Amino acid sequence: MNFCRITGTGGYLPGAPVSNDDLVARGIQTSDEWIAGRTGIRFRHFAADDEQSSDLALQASLRALQAAGCAPDDIDLIIVATSTPDQVFPSTACLLQNKLGNRTAVAFDVQAVCSGFVYALTLAEKFIRSGSHRRALVVGAEVFSRILDWEDRGTCVLFGDGAGAVVLEASNEPGILSSVLHADGHYHDILSVPGQVCNGGVSGKPLLQMDGQAVFKFAVRVLGDTAVELMDAAGLPMSALDWLVPHQANIRILQSTARRLDLPMEKVVVTVAEHGNTSAASVPLALDAAVRDGRIRAGQNVMLEAVGGGFTWGGVLLRL
Ligand code: ACO
Repeated sequence: MNFCRITGTGGYLPGAPVSNDDLVARGIQTSDEWIAGRTGIRFRHFAADDEQSSDLALQASLRALQAAGCAPDDIDLIIVATSTPDQVFPSTACLLQNKLGNRTAVAFDVQAVCSGFVYALTLAEKFIRSGSHRRALVVGAEVFSRILDWEDRGTCVLFGDGAGAVVLEASNEPGILSSVLHADGHYHDILSVPGQVCNGGVSGKPLLQMDGQAVFKFAVRVLGDTAVELMDAAGLPMSALDWLVPHQANIRILQSTARRLDLPMEKVVVTVAEHGNTSAASVPLALDAAVRDGRIRAGQNVMLEAVGGGFTWGGVLLRL
């Protein structure tokens, strides 16, 4: 069993959808026209005050386990991608492991912001292909609402909370066809949360700040380049791609990427209107939505790709 494949997906969005008009009603100086026109976002979800990333991760994980037909104890590796962990430590993956009632899996977090899930999935693939582990639970979970600057209307309207998960198992058939990861810390300051826990308080400003136009240009370039790299590495032409499941930051980034790749938008899974940008949760949430509504089917070639703070970027080409 030299390969591995995704055998189940799950997603979870907390609470009721919050519309752009709801944000206006909460006192943010914005409009549905501005947000929807510039980003495609119409709704997002926010976790309740007592809900943490591990709680959202638990719900998404239970759904993915059910879809894969396995129990928590069948899992021997848990990787959670998050930039909004429950605590400084233990890792959100260990807290999730405890909530699942699993006491034996290796468990750790990955921090690559919006690229976190593709980083985590690539790591899990390497564990499984090495033969050291057989069945991984890979999760992206975020409560980004906790790190938003509600005084900055240019960023607070973009993000939401949620979690997505997949079960990845050893297989005789190739599920993952290629994967690539990149990072360039030179761009650390165009998207950041520049604060930390220090001496029992907080130092810096632990709220999201972003140079939107710089991020936009960077994202379109690297999402396009990554897609070409993934197809080349698998020895397949772009025309063999059935579905692109990109990080859901902004509909205009997705449209520009599709244009660069000469890919019809009908092949792009878009959930940004309903989910907003859920950072590490965005790709597995979009994948789960398209699997559950029957768009993505067994045997199809599916590309997951993402870009985020760091800057980090990468993707995974797989056959379900
Ligand atoms: N509502 C109404 N007006 C607003 C809002 C808002 N929410 N936010 C900003 N404005 C105003 C500004 O004040 C400014 O007004 P002015 O011209 O009177 O000064 C005007 O709109 C234009 O502001 P810009 O910041 O220049 O807006 P821009 O056209 O760059 O659009 C946006 C901002 C949508 C964030 C865009 O830069 C973008 O899509 N960037 C991509 C970033 C992104 O998606 N990041 C997600 C996180 S990163 C990731 O996930 C990879």
